[in-house]
Formats: sequence, C-alpha cells, structure tokens
Amino acid sequence: MHMVFLPSIKMRWKNLFSISMELSQNSPQMLFSDSLKKLSFIRSIKCGDLVIIYERHDVMKAIKVNEGSIFQNRFGVFKHSDWIGKPFGSKVYSNKGGFVYILAPTPELWTLVLSHRTQILYIADISFVIMYLEVVPGCLVLESGTGSGSLTTSLARAVAPHGHIYTFDFHEYRAASAREDFEKTGVNNLVTVGVRDIQGEGFPEEFGRQADSVFLDLPQPWLAIPSAAKMLKFDGTLCSFSPCIEQVERSCEALQANFTDVRTFEILLRTYEVREVTVESCQEHDNGSLMGPPKKRKHTNEQNKDEKLMGQAVMARPSAEARGHTGYLTFARLKCV
Ligand SMILES: C[S@@+](CC[C@H](N)C(=O)[O-])C[C@H]1O[C@@H](n2cnc3c(N)ncnc32)[C@H](O)[C@@H]1O
Repeated sequence: MHMVFLPSIKMRWKNLFSISMELSQNSPQMLFSDSLKKLSFIRSIKCGDLVIIYERHDVMKAIKVNEGSIFQNRFGVFKHSDWIGKPFGSKVYSNKGGFVYILAPTPELWTLVLSHRTQILYIADISFVIMYLEVVPGCLVLESGTGSGSLTTSLARAVAPHGHIYTFDFHEYRAASAREDFEKTGVNNLVTVGVRDIQGEGFPEEFGRQADSVFLDLPQPWLAIPSAAKMLKFDGTLCSFSPCIEQVERSCEALQANFTDVRTFEILLRTYEVREVTVESCQEHDNGSLMGPPKKRKHTNEQNKDEKLMGQAVMARPSAEARGHTGYLTFARLKCV
C-alpha cells in the first residue's frame, strides 16, 4: 500500500521550489549513506559536516565544522580541526582540558537544538505520530503547517529513501527558513516545502488519492479535513495535533463524514533523573531499585561495620522539569468507499 513513487508530481514540485537534490547528496547528512546508497552509521567527521556539540542532555548546540574555526564555551576553546577525521561520538578536549562530545545529527537531536520559529512537536508526540500514522519507507505524506520543521525532519527519515513529504505553510518566511534547515540537515531531497493556505484552499488537487498519510498542525484543522479526505488513499491515515480540547471536538465532528477509527490521545512523558549518590547504607527494595535513607550512626562496636556499608548507590526520581500537556493527537482512517 505504501510503496508509491510519483516522479511526475515530485519533479513538478521540485522545479517549482528549486529544491536541489544534488546539493543534499553531498551535504552534511542526517541520513548517512555510503557509496552504495545504503544507510550507514559508520562515519567520521568531515569539514562541512553538521554536528551536535553535546555538553549535557539539556545543553547542546548544532554547528557546521570548519577547518579554521573554533567553538568556545565555559570549558574553553575547541578547535574544529581537532575533530576532523574522528568518529562521531568522540569526546574532544578544549585548551583547558574541558570536554564535549561531538554527535552525529539525528532528527531526535535536531528537535532539541533547532531554532524555534513556532511551537514545535517534541519526541514523545513525534514518535507516536509516526508509529500510529504507519509511516514507513516509501510513503507519501502531506503536512501542514510546516512550522519549525521539527516533525517534518522525523517524517523525512521515516519515509527515506524513496518516499516524500510535501509540507505546506502559509507563512513565507517560515517556509523559507524550513527549506534552509532541510538543506542543512540533508533531508531536502525527501521534503518539498510549499507556501499555501491549507485551511482556505486545501491541499493541491494533484495529490488527490495519492497520500498515504496527512498530518495537520493548524489552528482550525476542521477546515482542512475535507481536503485531506480527498488527498488520502482509501484506508490512508490522518493525524491532527491540537493544544485545546475544543479544537479536537470540532475536528472529530468534521471527521465523521469520511473517516473511521477516530481516536484521540494525549501523550504524557515522565522523565526520571537517575543519579549516583553517596549513602550511609543501602536497602534493596522489592522492585530492585536502590535507595539510601540516612541511617543514624551507631556509637557502638558496630560503628566500623556500618561505615563499611557507606558507598555509592543509584537513585531515580521523577524529573521536576518534565514537560506536561503539549496537545492532543487525533487519528483517523479514511473509509473505503
Ligand atoms: C505550531 S506550527 C507547526 C509546528 C510543526 N508541527 C513543528 O513540529 O515544527 C503551526 C504552523 O501552521 C502554520 N499555519 C497556520 N495556519 C495555516 C494555514 N491556514 N495554512 C497553512 N499553514 C498555516 C503557521 O504559520 C505555523 O507555522
């Protein structure tokens, strides 16, 4: 059902938006491919590569490697030239002995470092969307709005190497910035960005019955749902992301006419901080986790025995900075007529 490649539509849109396929094949890539065009993760850092500088899970930055450039942070000055030729994942040192890791860009990391021109979808919602929309290699997916391209980047990897994402935003600057980002991350041969008011005009007619999936992140998605129904193949999947439940209710109403299996989810992710701590004694709990409640020191002959029990333990607790509500994901499947 999903393995459709539409050269005619693809070429027309490619020309219209001057997307350069050649450029992406030579540019720093999220989708590593070797000379045989197989996905490959064995790669070393080259001049011109986009890399992620990783200090901590919440301190990361994307930069382009340049032979003569430096990267500076609180740990000192890092020369890009020291990184070239090293494998991705390497620990690299500054002039002061500080270190960072140089990671390969992935859609997961990109989502954490991209410049926010809009609200974006994060990993918990993105992963659920891709799974529940059944997006696999070869799929043709329509999306609106593009926003900051956070979801689009993951969709692109999911449909690679022969599928395609056609994404639309009515905001010209956002569309142009998203195009630049897709070139930077090397997914631009998989994504075409169009400027269009999808709520007002719907998706372009040439996509009629061609799409495996449609994704909407729009303020009034119900206005785009009739058009989405015309674009989808029978049995194709739709998802609409909305922050408010009132938007969900109106969307569900609009889905009644042509869709079945309508379901809404809220994805709540609980993040844990796992730390090594020094404890005076360790008690093993039924669930196997270790916790070290402070124990009163005994001033007896047993003191030495107790001190021997002091040591390191691993403690896990829910993170205070965990994200709460992001939005509701409403899924539906086009009825076969
Ligand atoms: C919240 S952002 C999408 C974020 C995106 N899902 C991401 O993960 O980066 C919503 C986008 O929809 C666009 N938009 C709003 N109304 C639109 C319309 N009628 N047609 C096309 N795009 C529209 C906005 O310009 C904005 O960029």
